[in-house]
Amino acid sequence: MQGWLAFYRTTVGKKIVMAVTGAMMFLWLIGHMVGNLQIFFGPEKINTYAHFLHNGGEEILLGVRAVMIVALLLHLLAALQVTLADWRARPVGYVVKKNIETSYAARTMIISGPLIFLYIVYHLLMFTFLKVGPGRSATDVYANVVQGFQVPLIAGVYIAAMLVLVYHLWHGAWSMLQTLGANHPKYNSLRKIVATGLAVIIAVGFASVPVAVLLGIIR
Ligand code: HEM
Repeated sequence: MQGWLAFYRTTVGKKIVMAVTGAMMFLWLIGHMVGNLQIFFGPEKINTYAHFLHNGGEEILLGVRAVMIVALLLHLLAALQVTLADWRARPVGYVVKKNIETSYAARTMIISGPLIFLYIVYHLLMFTFLKVGPGRSATDVYANVVQGFQVPLIAGVYIAAMLVLVYHLWHGAWSMLQTLGANHPKYNSLRKIVATGLAVIIAVGFASVPVAVLLGIIR
């Protein structure tokens, strides 16, 4: 434990924690996106899937939730500490930035990160706790999603959130791959392609649901 704490206190330690928890959330998001896309196959498909998660897969769901909450908290804590340390290390009037890429990413991630956090709170209130939005059925997830996104403002908020998400995931994947070792100039163009590809696939996959409801493809 002592060794882990000493490791975490270093900047590299915090960056590795951010990269590993980021990778875990990336994998979770891919699973969530694939689950959501079942909505294109009709109400039975997605409602059966939701029913399985709530009943058959309850233990798995609880375990995954616990792990993901810890991952999210560690990710937020490490991000906050790295950013504060970065601000403290930069004296006022610092004109020439030593590492433009790092400080640019840090500056923007600290804005897109909290925006995504706010989005998740709104999203959970809507679809998990059923406290906001027009659809409040405990069993018909399909109806909740369709009725929610038939309100253009709600669909617009979700689509805007996916634009912020694509940006965060893009920078996140880029830094994650760097922290986890793909930092050789030889790999930089491949790293860019992988980071961009992953971010775009996830955001387009998620955004396709509110877009399809707005266009009347799903109703
Ligand atoms: C337009 C895209 C999305 C749709 C249609 C959607 C839909 C849903 C629905 C219907 C649920 C509730 C499932 C249930 O309890 O039966 C849910 C849960 C959740 N969603 Fe999304 N989601 C979207 C995007 C996202 C994104 C981008 C994130 C994260 C950045 C996210 C994070 C979550 C979380 C954390 C839960 C709670 C999971 C749990 O109960 O353990 N969702 N989503």
